[in-house]
Amino acid sequence: MTTATTPPRPATGAVGTSHIRLEGRDKVTGAARYAADFPADGLAHGWIVVSTVARGRIRSVADTPVLAMPGVLAVLHHGNAPRLKEDFSGTFGPDATTQILQHDRVPHAGWPVALVVAETPEQAREAAESLTVTYATEPHDVDFRPGHPAAYTPEARPVRPAAAEKGDVEAELAASDVVVDARYTTAEEHHNPMEPHAALAHWDGGRLDVVDTTQGAHATAQDLARLFGLDPAAVRLRSEHVGGGFGCKAQVRAHLVLAVMAATLLARPVRVALTRAQTFTLIGHRSATAQRVRLGAGADGRLRALEHTALSATSTVQEFVETSAAYGRSLYDARGHRTVDSVVPLDIPTPTYMRAPGEAPGSFALECALDELAERCGIDPIVLRGRNEPAVGPVSGLPFAGRRLLDCFAEGARRFGWDGRDPRPGVRRDGRWLVGTGTAAATFFAGAFPATASATAHPDGTFTVRIAAADIGTGARTALTQLAAEALEVTPGRVRLLIADSDFGAAWVAGGSMGTRSWGWAVTLAARDLRERLALGGGVPADGLTVRSDTTQAVGALAARERHSYGAQFAEVAVDPGTGEIRVRRMLGVFAAGRIVNPLTARSQLTGGMIWGLSMALHEEAVRDTASGTLVNADLAGYHIAAHADVPAVEADWLDDPDPEDPVGIKGIGEIGAVGSAAAIANAVWHATGVRHRNLPIRPDRVL
Ligand code: MOS
Repeated sequence: MTTATTPPRPATGAVGTSHIRLEGRDKVTGAARYAADFPADGLAHGWIVVSTVARGRIRSVADTPVLAMPGVLAVLHHGNAPRLKEDFSGTFGPDATTQILQHDRVPHAGWPVALVVAETPEQAREAAESLTVTYATEPHDVDFRPGHPAAYTPEARPVRPAAAEKGDVEAELAASDVVVDARYTTAEEHHNPMEPHAALAHWDGGRLDVVDTTQGAHATAQDLARLFGLDPAAVRLRSEHVGGGFGCKAQVRAHLVLAVMAATLLARPVRVALTRAQTFTLIGHRSATAQRVRLGAGADGRLRALEHTALSATSTVQEFVETSAAYGRSLYDARGHRTVDSVVPLDIPTPTYMRAPGEAPGSFALECALDELAERCGIDPIVLRGRNEPAVGPVSGLPFAGRRLLDCFAEGARRFGWDGRDPRPGVRRDGRWLVGTGTAAATFFAGAFPATASATAHPDGTFTVRIAAADIGTGARTALTQLAAEALEVTPGRVRLLIADSDFGAAWVAGGSMGTRSWGWAVTLAARDLRERLALGGGVPADGLTVRSDTTQAVGALAARERHSYGAQFAEVAVDPGTGEIRVRRMLGVFAAGRIVNPLTARSQLTGGMIWGLSMALHEEAVRDTASGTLVNADLAGYHIAAHADVPAVEADWLDDPDPEDPVGIKGIGEIGAVGSAAAIANAVWHATGVRHRNLPIRPDRVL
């Protein structure tokens, strides 16, 4: 990397100025290597065989004929696979989805039942497709529906309780002038990162050396060690480039477990990569939801009662709750306040975190219900939000660590041209199109997790900073370089930033909108410390001067506050009443989300989230055949994601909103763009047509 010859940039102002991604050129020229791109001497290839039935037990795996096929090295199945730690609990808690080839139970269609390993991927695939597995099937239930008899409210959730309640909702509803009682559904959504999951594993001089596509190299390495009962120091895991993640690459997945098993048994490097279809059952998805919102208000729109209940589905393997109902707990107050998340186990793959888990579907229901309340009260939806602005956390009672929600609405309304909007629905025409506008609030938790970093000064005046961060396409590598440069008071060109190697020490994953915030904290402290030591004089030794940081104490000392980012979402849609086609004409999001490090990539994060909301509102819908228990659209032809032609003018901007307790002022921007955006579109569709669409996606056949 060029250092001294890099053209000088102003040292001050590195943070807050736009920089293109440092690895951008490597990515577009193909020089950047993803997990499946790494070569290895003697590399063998694993191909996963998944169950074709939705529930039952494996009777037999006919491996003998397959072992005789060309190039086949091994067939792993529950009868011969290495044993894993049964009581495995990782970074995100217990996770029984890791128990691959450990038992003969089939909990859902698409569950891994064997791994065929061969000299080439083609031989492995041919053999895998030839492997006969027989099953004793059992009746299955994949039918997600409100009122399912097996639904329950979990006892306790570590991050947010499943239920929170204050006051008397029924009494407040009875005393309200206006009551909205509406039911909403959202569809099952699937992760489709550009880079499907892949891992390369091999044993190198007593150490397990792994390349995986992961949102957290250190966390995944630790979890892998726990799962296989290895010394954590004996596992090294790297993920230099990751082609998208957003929650599906935060945990140990089947491909990684199987690559390690095969590399161990064969004592040679093994690569396992998922097909696109396999990602629909092996990496987690966002559950469908069924939600009910009951709002009671005075004639002036002030809330007396807020009740939000939500049901999502999990698997029989591992409980995962899409916490949609938790969304309103920090946003709106009411004397009667009740939010409850329930879940029903079905014979389906285990869901997981997906960008704005809980908030994305939860904000759709609650922000649409508020729009209905505004309509019923005859009040502008933004005015309604203003009348319901709480002084402290509605349920927690904690002071807010900054709350610029109404400022976001004011600035958004100005830029969108909201003032003077005719509130009547179904009255604006543009040729054959009915046109309408909608708005919604957004909020997302702003936290931090501990991380460690090191910063090294070299005698030539350059610096190397190491942290086990992940850049899943967000631009984290670039942002952290800017932060290091600012703290070192040098140009970014003099800083070499190395990430995504578990050997760099503990660091939080790229998740919960806390990646850049948590890593930036550690990088800043290490770099500041190094600068101070250099200022004392004494020079830099030939092998460099290194300092380390650990933010465990600093993060632990954060005051108890309602710590959130906020935003206001706006959308304009045109609806063709003849075909049911909905065209989103423009979207605007204005956010108060902490200090922005790199405006260029930050804008991409925010608009990316907003487009995710558009996709949720209009396109994404996994469809499961109840008879077979399998998905009928497990590919990008059948599973529709917003494409360029669906994405109009999408604009995101922000207000100044530094977090005073963060050394840099960051809050986190990864997920808030996906919050409220689907509601803004649904509210705009109502404004265009006069019809409330409470079931997503708003497909053309539903519009008609
Ligand atoms: Mo995100 S759902 O925390 O990757």
